[in-house]
Amino acid sequence: MKKNLITLFTLILTLVLHAQDGSERFYALMALQDAQELKKDFPNEVDILQTKRNEAAVYMTKKAGHELHERVLVHGPGYVYKPSLVDAITSLTEEKAVSSFPRMAFTITEDDLVNDAIDAVVTQNIEDHILELQGYGTRYHNRASASQAAVDLKAKWEAMATAYGRTDVSVRLYNHVSTNMPSVIMTIEGAEFPDEFVVVGGHLDSTSNQSNNNAPGADDDASGIATITEATRTLFEIGFVPKRTIEVMAYAAEEIGLVGSAEIADNYNDNNVNVISAVQFDMTNYNGSANDVSFITDYTNATLNAFLMQLLDHYNSDGDHPISYGTSLCNYGCSDHASWTSEGYMSSFPFEANFGQHNNTIHSAGDTFSVSGTADHAAKFTKLCAEYLIETAKSNGILAISDFPKDQYKLLVANKVLTYEVLNNAKAIEGISLFDISGKEVMSLAVNSNAGTISLANLATGLYVLNLQVANNTTYSKKIILK
Ligand code: BES
Ligand code: ZN
Repeated sequence: MKKNLITLFTLILTLVLHAQDGSERFYALMALQDAQELKKDFPNEVDILQTKRNEAAVYMTKKAGHELHERVLVHGPGYVYKPSLVDAITSLTEEKAVSSFPRMAFTITEDDLVNDAIDAVVTQNIEDHILELQGYGTRYHNRASASQAAVDLKAKWEAMATAYGRTDVSVRLYNHVSTNMPSVIMTIEGAEFPDEFVVVGGHLDSTSNQSNNNAPGADDDASGIATITEATRTLFEIGFVPKRTIEVMAYAAEEIGLVGSAEIADNYNDNNVNVISAVQFDMTNYNGSANDVSFITDYTNATLNAFLMQLLDHYNSDGDHPISYGTSLCNYGCSDHASWTSEGYMSSFPFEANFGQHNNTIHSAGDTFSVSGTADHAAKFTKLCAEYLIETAKSNGILAISDFPKDQYKLLVANKVLTYEVLNNAKAIEGISLFDISGKEVMSLAVNSNAGTISLANLATGLYVLNLQVANNTTYSKKIILK
């Protein structure tokens, strides 16, 4: 008790002293060894408030934090920002209950959907998106262009969902306490278990050791945002409707201490949100090691890591989409996965290379797409992302049908007669086929006129999916009911 009082007194004294000298300081959690080294080098800039096992709660100047951040490139230490003294101390001492939700068994059952999704990955989309994000010049969390990037990403994700006619998708900005930059969260509502969440994320902000006015952040981490965006697009492309809710997250302010993800994960935990697992994509486009994917094994969950490796064994050991993997260590909670881990959730971090062999232009004006020059490496992570989302969220068995272009084709069914017509000089119809609810093709006809009728009298009443094949390998689908 006495010892506690003395500790408290020391803390208060520390606070008062620093308030007096006016230097800008902040609270953080970091590895004990790193805190001790930093304290030795900057005795007046760093206060170690409390330690537990190999971690330390510290109060330090921005200057010391910056020094630490720069060392990360060569060594690996960093820190996790804490908004207050209480947060710093409690995050150190509090044993977070590992989430008490019943654990779901990870299984591999969705082969057809997964194979279709990974076939649908378009590498060019990833390149385009990385270039688009590096085009902001800087996405440093306190710059206007960073918040603009979040607003624009929300619009981009909304447009993507709309283009595929999805009414089960919503996108929101998540406002934070410790940064003005919002995070962006896309939600695909689970059709069967909407309260079970499957999360993927990356960070939208960037930083530079030289000047935060020039921080293109192409690999760190436009690559991750492009990866999760394209993976989600492939899910829409195949009409995947998840049983569980999927959330795709672009975190704000990762570079200043995991600020965005820490607030989100903390809020989800406080509200008892059942997050099955969260996978982080931060730096996916630099091919620096013999293996394609390096699973970071510290501050991550071993069960989830093993599942992601099983996915690669199952879908990517041979065939059209080979992906190899190994493991590596960050030695610190080096990205947003650590925010989920520290809230007791299962989290993984598949990384572009072994630590130390990663892209060494990050956190500089040199982190541009041209360092890789292709998005081939990120495309592999996009496939892993789609595999994880489909196999964890699972299909509810119904495929979504995109909005049918009503202004281009007229389709009418009455008295078991189908009437079709090409409108407004739209592409010619080449064929019409029908599938019953078991997925069996029950009719297929070549069509070579711009208008006509087809008798469906020999088909049983019920629900069918009609496929309209038009010129240039395009197919539109529509549900029809025969009465
Ligand atoms: N993408 C990096 C993390 C990283 C860098 C992982 C190099 C592996 C190799 C991330 O954006 C980052 O910079 N993280 C911070 C830590 C955070 C707590 C501020 C870092 O490592 O300094
Ligand atoms: Zn970074």
